[in-house]
Amino acid sequence: MYPKEDLQGAEQRLADFLIYRFGGPPTYIEQRGHPRLRMRHAPFAIGKLARDRWVELMNRALEESRFPGDVDQLLREFFGSTATFMRNRPD
Ligand code: HEM
Repeated sequence: MYPKEDLQGAEQRLADFLIYRFGGPPTYIEQRGHPRLRMRHAPFAIGKLARDRWVELMNRALEESRFPGDVDQLLREFFGSTATFMRNRPD
């Protein structure tokens, strides 16, 4: 689903969003405006499989990152619930 020719850009947009969302500099907002994440994900078919795969990969990244337990827990819950919110079809 991600743009092959601009994977680095996609990574940067997600990173900037997370930095802003957790209290860091608002670079994401300055460059992209209001997140409107559900609307921005509408062009992609996000069913249960895609949602679960995305969460699985993010959880793997969290494992590699070795954050303190409470940070890890908070991010896991945030990713899980936001990813469910992004679903726009059943399967
Ligand atoms: C549920 C599974 C998800 C899938 C399959 C998915 C897929 C995608 C794809 C294909 C893009 C376009 C890449 C780009 O050019 O930027 C994108 C953008 C983005 N996604 Fe997701 N995403 C998922 C969940 C999430 C979640 C849970 C978050 C936030 C925690 C998130 C945050 C973002 C952001 C910030 C962008 C860039 C939006 C923009 O400014 O254009 N995504 N996502």
